[in-house]
Amino acid sequence: MTTQTETSVETPATTFPAGFRWGVATASYQIEGAAQEDGRAPSIWDTFSRTPGRVADGHTGQVACDHYHRYAEDIAIMRGLGVGTYRFSLAWPRIQPDGSGPINPKGLDFYDRLVDGLLEAGIAPMATLYHWDLPQTLEDAGGWPNRDLASRFADYALAAYARLGDRVPTWTTLNEPWCSAFLGYCSGRHAPGRIEPANSFRAAHTLMLGHGLAARALRAAGAQEVSVTVNLSPAIPRTLSDPHDQAAARLLDGLHNRIFLDPLLLGRYPTDMLAHMERFCGLDHIRTGDEETIAAPIDFLGVNYYMPTMVAAQVGQPSSDQFPGTEGVLFLDPDVPQTGMGWPIDADSFHTLLVRLHRDYPGTPIMITENGSSFPDVVVGDTVQDADRIGYFDGHLRAVAGAIADGVDLRGYLAWSLLDNFEWGYGYDKRFGLVHVDYATQQRRLKASAHWYKDVIANNSL
Ligand code: FCB
Repeated sequence: MTTQTETSVETPATTFPAGFRWGVATASYQIEGAAQEDGRAPSIWDTFSRTPGRVADGHTGQVACDHYHRYAEDIAIMRGLGVGTYRFSLAWPRIQPDGSGPINPKGLDFYDRLVDGLLEAGIAPMATLYHWDLPQTLEDAGGWPNRDLASRFADYALAAYARLGDRVPTWTTLNEPWCSAFLGYCSGRHAPGRIEPANSFRAAHTLMLGHGLAARALRAAGAQEVSVTVNLSPAIPRTLSDPHDQAAARLLDGLHNRIFLDPLLLGRYPTDMLAHMERFCGLDHIRTGDEETIAAPIDFLGVNYYMPTMVAAQVGQPSSDQFPGTEGVLFLDPDVPQTGMGWPIDADSFHTLLVRLHRDYPGTPIMITENGSSFPDVVVGDTVQDADRIGYFDGHLRAVAGAIADGVDLRGYLAWSLLDNFEWGYGYDKRFGLVHVDYATQQRRLKASAHWYKDVIANNSL
C-alpha cells in the first residue's frame, strides 16, 4: 500500500474518470441574506452575529451576497463555468420557522425557484439540510445537546423532501457535525457560542442520530442519493519515533475523525472515544439501538478537507478549547506555506487521508463536498489574479487524481466556494470564492481561478 501511494504521488494522474462530478458549494446563511423575508425566523447565527464581539467587525448574514434575490444571476455564472453539480443548503428557519410544527410555504417557494433554475441550466441540485443555521427556537429548547432535536431534524428533512424531492436527486443531511458540536458547544467560537464540553459530546450524538433518522426517512420517501458531509483533518504526530506523540495524534484522530466516521460507517463508537467521552458526560446519552440508527446506509460520504492537524505530546500543556480532554497535547504549525486563514497548505495529507478512508471504511464511495482556500484578494480591473488559489486547487486536485489512481472510489469534487461569502466568525474579510463579490454593490467578478476551473471542468483534467 505504501509503495503504491508513493509512486502515484510522484507521477500523478491528471485526467479524471468519465462521469466525474464537478461542481461548487455554498451554504444558506453565508450567501442568502434576506434574513427577515417571507417568514424566515431567526437562526442561531442571526443571534450570534448580532451579539457584540462574536463575529469580526460585527458582520452578520443579514444581506450577505443577496443570493435570495440574485440567485438567477448566480445560476447563470455557474452555467458559464460548466458546473454540473451545485451543492447549496436549505435554511431550516425559512422552511420551518419554529423548528417544529407548521411549514412556511414561502420559504420553500424560494428553493423551488432555485431548483427549477438549476435544472433549466442543466445543473444537478444537491441539497444540504443542515449547514449550521438552527432555528433559534430549537436552541432555546436546549439546542443540539437536547436529544429531541434528532426527531425534529428528521421531520424537517421530510417536509423539505415532500416539496423538492421530485427534482432534487441528492440529499445531504449534515454539514460538518464536528463544527456544530465542538465549535458551537465547546469552544463557543461558532453559534450558539456555548462553552460546555460535556454537552458538546451530547450535541455530536444528537446530530448523528438526527442524520440517521433523516437518512432512513429520506430513503423510505424515495430519495435517489443520501449522504452526510464530515470535515476531516488527518492528525500528524511531530515525530514518528516518540510513542507519546503517536498517542497524541491518535487522540486527535479520534476527536476529529473517528468519533464521527466509526458510528456513521461502522455502526459503533470507537472504544477509545467511548472511554474519553465517559470522563466528561458518562454514556447515558447513547441508548441501545442508537448506533444502528446512525449507521443508516448512505450512497456516498461527503468529505470536506482544508488542512491537517500536527500535534506533539507536551507535559503541562492545557487542553485545546475545541477538543475536550487534550491536556498534554501541543498543536503545531507544520513547516509548509499557509493560506490567508493561516491554515497549512498540505495536499499530500489530503491524498493520505483519502487512501486511509478507502482502507478503513471500504465500500463507501466518496465525494469531495468542499475544498478551497482564502487569500487576500485584490481586484484589478475587472478581475482578481489569484494565482495562490489556483495553486491550492491544482495541488489538491492532483491529490484527488492520485487517490483515484490508487483505487479510491471518488465520485466528484465541489470547490468551496462559488462566491466570496460570510465566513462565520471571520465575517466578510476572508474570501474563498471563485467569484469575487463587492459587498457594497453586489457586483460579481470572475477571478482568474474561476476561468481556470472552467477549463478543468471542460477538459475533465488538469
Ligand atoms: C467549512 C464550512 C464552510 C466554509 C469553509 C471555509 O468548514 O463548511 O461553510 O466556512 O469551511
